[in-house]
Amino acid sequence: MNEEQSDTPAIAVLVSGRGSNLDAIFRAIEQGDLHARVALVISSRADAPALDIARQHGADTVVVAPKSYGSRAEAGAAIIAALTAAQVDAIALAGFKPILDASVIEAYPDRILNVHPSLLPAFAGGMAPRPQADALAAGVKLSGCTVHIVTADVDAGPIVAQAAVPVLEDDTVETLSARILVEEHRLLPLTLEWLLSGRLQIEDGRARLAPDTVSAH
Ligand code: GAR
Repeated sequence: MNEEQSDTPAIAVLVSGRGSNLDAIFRAIEQGDLHARVALVISSRADAPALDIARQHGADTVVVAPKSYGSRAEAGAAIIAALTAAQVDAIALAGFKPILDASVIEAYPDRILNVHPSLLPAFAGGMAPRPQADALAAGVKLSGCTVHIVTADVDAGPIVAQAAVPVLEDDTVETLSARILVEEHRLLPLTLEWLLSGRLQIEDGRARLAPDTVSAH
């Protein structure tokens, strides 16, 4: 690690699939909107396309496949070992499918963000494209995405940011998901920047954003 790298906050991104949110994080870093470096990408699947995106950007990768471990706690220990070795400051769950073991959440209190493709607390609990399909089935007229702090309660941690999109009459799961994804790609890097710059404060189970004193000058 060179001197410049050690000054830049390190993040880990946990993935299981396509990796479009991981790609958005790399783009935000390259454009100077997110002051961070992706020190590690952990995938729960060895065949996740997200791993190719990570390698294209020269990021270190680790596969922690739940099947290879006797319990969620053992997989959690492997994740903690990898995160510790990479000395990460924060973690983003970007389409990470397994439920994270409590030990990981306890090791990084208020330092783990998750992006979910619904306006939480609506349509919590499932993995894409389930929340989008459930929103369509319920006939809601607005959907969107949520970035929240990861706590032991799945999809129920403090909400950091949300973006709403309209649900159109002729939407399919694919068209609605694509509209939501545009907002995910904007919100996840933005909220990571808030977290790493110290602007995000968690009090009484609620997330608050302190004024941006750096850009204001
Ligand atoms: C995203 O839509 C994300 O919100 C969702 O998985 C997709 C991952 O896409 N996450 C969840 O459903 C979490 N419950 P990506 O691999 O292209 O970033």
